[in-house]
Amino acid sequence: MCGISAVTGTENVVQILYESIRNLEYRGYDSCGLGVVHNGEVAVRKNVGGVEEVKQREHLTSMRGKAGIAHTRWATHGKVTQVNAHPHCSMDGRISVVHNGIINNYQELRAELRACDVIFESETDTEVLAHLIALAYAESADVEAAFLAAVKRLEGSFAFCMVTSHRPDTIFCAREGSPLVLGLSRQRNFVASDVNAFLQHTRDAVLLEDGEYAVVTPQSAVVRKIADGSRVRRKPIKVEWDAETSRKGGYAHYMLKEIFEQPQTLLNALNVPRSDVERFAGQMHDARQTYLMGVGTTQYVALTGQYFFSQLAGRFVPAVSADEFEGLAVIAPEDLLISISQSGETYDTRRGVAHAKRCGARTASIVNVMGSSLSMMTDSVIMQGSGPEICVVSTKAALAQMVILMRIALELGRRTGHIDSAVYRAHYNDLESFPDIVQISLNERSGFVRNLAERIVSYANCLVLGRGVYYPIALEAALKMKEVTYLHVEGMPAGFLKHGTLALVDDTMLSLLMLPPPRQRELHQQTLSALEEIKARGGPVFGLVFEDDERAKNLLDHYLELPVVSCTVAPFLQLIFAQLLSYFSALKLGRSIDKPRNLAKSVTVG
Ligand code: G6P
Repeated sequence: MCGISAVTGTENVVQILYESIRNLEYRGYDSCGLGVVHNGEVAVRKNVGGVEEVKQREHLTSMRGKAGIAHTRWATHGKVTQVNAHPHCSMDGRISVVHNGIINNYQELRAELRACDVIFESETDTEVLAHLIALAYAESADVEAAFLAAVKRLEGSFAFCMVTSHRPDTIFCAREGSPLVLGLSRQRNFVASDVNAFLQHTRDAVLLEDGEYAVVTPQSAVVRKIADGSRVRRKPIKVEWDAETSRKGGYAHYMLKEIFEQPQTLLNALNVPRSDVERFAGQMHDARQTYLMGVGTTQYVALTGQYFFSQLAGRFVPAVSADEFEGLAVIAPEDLLISISQSGETYDTRRGVAHAKRCGARTASIVNVMGSSLSMMTDSVIMQGSGPEICVVSTKAALAQMVILMRIALELGRRTGHIDSAVYRAHYNDLESFPDIVQISLNERSGFVRNLAERIVSYANCLVLGRGVYYPIALEAALKMKEVTYLHVEGMPAGFLKHGTLALVDDTMLSLLMLPPPRQRELHQQTLSALEEIKARGGPVFGLVFEDDERAKNLLDHYLELPVVSCTVAPFLQLIFAQLLSYFSALKLGRSIDKPRNLAKSVTVG
């Protein structure tokens, strides 16, 4: 979604402001802009394109000012044009705002403002804000009162920041439904959509909650409630991430870096305190029904969890996509909802949680971002500890979530008596030895992945197929592939193929098979049947296979061999190599890997 950022300091802040939106670019990247107060005036420069491109074109860093706002956009209202880029200004140019979210009642507000002779420059919902504040200021000559009066008129979800020449060193910001965090340091203070904007300068952060606004100067940050103006005193938290982990560190892309970080991600997921895992298992044990929920990659994570709970705990725990949750899940107060989200800000997921809360159910979440909305709104939280994930498409965070779900399933399985302690321990041993296996196999096999990727990209259409838990792995592999390559790739249960989709198979339709270890006889045999069905129709079949799988290797046109590992971690290894395959395929096609077209990392609107 959009990234917003603001800085106020005692010296020129433009370079820092510019860097802050460069660090937020993964939130949106179709256009960007800066608004800075200097010599009693607000100067704005903005345009379409990525942050670096707009910097060059508009000479962003030659601007000057001690307080400013910045924005990187992912268009929702209004086309991607220079006028629609943020910041947006009042007609006298003295008030300038950047916004993330959606103002639902902007049409009515526009009509009302037009009746007051306001002329709109853009098609955005955001612009109403600047004009509303200006009109209120004309009446009261009090900036804070005007700001507040305008905020109270808004319906929808928003986070926004304002600077004005009426109060040159001050940033005003407010939050309702979209994330906003303050960063505090001795020389300057920050406001941003997330901490990556200012981690280089400070790790002391104050999280704004919904219904709060803040008035921030270089020396102070005062948080109040929008409803009644009452003061909110909240201690800063220390952000554990350091700035270094959000840098690319020698890798060509964040995606590659994050894939290669997975041995560490796995260790972190295994280090999530056992007490947290036991708490979740206990809540599931007590619940009438537990639901898993995510959307996009996290829905596929939830689906893998569904298999773990069935197989390891003997419990059917449906995974429902967050965008469909409200209409589908039948929630009672005795139920538990476990939501899964890297960012903790996804609109659909928050909406699902809000629905469950309204029904009186208990809520829990597995999230990666400290202080994120979901971590605050759910009754209990597991912080997955994967560190910043910058590439828009999720890799390491998804793997960590799957491992944590498996740990919860093992714990629950022990409680339900579905597995005994020997089986429990055997799975844990497999998980504990996995990080080293990942490290070695990534180092040894990347070249082979690149070779297979080069063959894959000659096909415009591809099916990714798997059975059992390899089915959600296939779905995620396909999603990764389409997100970064823009090829038409669909994931599907291998057993489903013959019930219709087989009609598409010919020599132009590639199938990519996720083969389970041959030791899982039945699953393996079922997957091989799909292979035979495709080959019989002349379809090319590539596969991700384990080294001891001679039968599959004899049938496949091309394959990538993975080291023989335990059945516990085999799907995780397939996932990691499917991620790498997507990366190299996109690299071959020259795609914008870290920021694929039309996507944003954290979709905070509905
Ligand atoms: C967006 C991203 C996806 C991501 C999904 C859920 O759609 O583009 O890559 O899987 O949101 O994000 P979350 O932060 O809730 O895990």
